[in-house]
Amino acid sequence: MNIAIILAAGKSERLKEIAVPKQLYLINRVPLFMYSVLTFNDLEEIDEIYLVTNEQCLSEIEQYVKQYSLTKKVKGLILGGRTRQESVYLALKHLEKIAKDDDIILIHDSARPLLEKETILKNIENTVRYGAVTTAIKVKDTIFSESEDGVDHIVSRSRLYQAQTPQSFKYCLIKKAHESAVLNNVFASDDSALIKEIGYDVKIVLGTTTNFKITTIEDIKLLEMMVL
Ligand code: CTP
Ligand code: MG
Repeated sequence: MNIAIILAAGKSERLKEIAVPKQLYLINRVPLFMYSVLTFNDLEEIDEIYLVTNEQCLSEIEQYVKQYSLTKKVKGLILGGRTRQESVYLALKHLEKIAKDDDIILIHDSARPLLEKETILKNIENTVRYGAVTTAIKVKDTIFSESEDGVDHIVSRSRLYQAQTPQSFKYCLIKKAHESAVLNNVFASDDSALIKEIGYDVKIVLGTTTNFKITTIEDIKLLEMMVL
């Protein structure tokens, strides 16, 4: 089975300008989290979808799932944790009696609404082959760090990527990575880092610039310019 875990349990702390958590913000009368859910739902390659949410958003998300008639593929709503990592861990725990070791788990941030189907398909193909993949795009701008005087050393960008989601893994591998992280107090901002931590390689699948993450009000404005 190919199983999507879609994360919508965050608190949008960097987006105070809107009145609701960003996952519920309406763009063209459609809540933000619904964009990627519909993309996954449309693909016959995706067997099941699990949505991770917080208590504040739970009942609204549940209603939207019914309203959009998604109950066939959306098999469960799971309460997330205080951090993204904890939310993923809780979703993986929920799947313990559902997923098989070789099932493919695609983990996606609902804060990336413009995910393309092609990216999902490439994630699946490459996870079958390699066991662990992350979507990423090449860094196009020059990157430097900041010092007290201004610009510090320039980092060579030739091998630099920006991580995106989905990140996809064989179930047994990502479960092992998260359990090991809990045991050893390892904290990382994405799942591929936890896989590296237990000694496995992660392959890169090229994403698209449009699969950017809604983080600040600028991103909301950009998204509205693109889709309204
Ligand atoms: N996420 C989650 N559980 C958390 C924190 C984040 O499921 N405890 C999800 C978010 O809903 C989002 C994705 O992880 O889809 C990426 O996180 P981010 O963009 O940081 O969203 P927030 O944590 O909500 O935003 P902020 O960090 O500004 O509070
Ligand atoms: Mg966050």
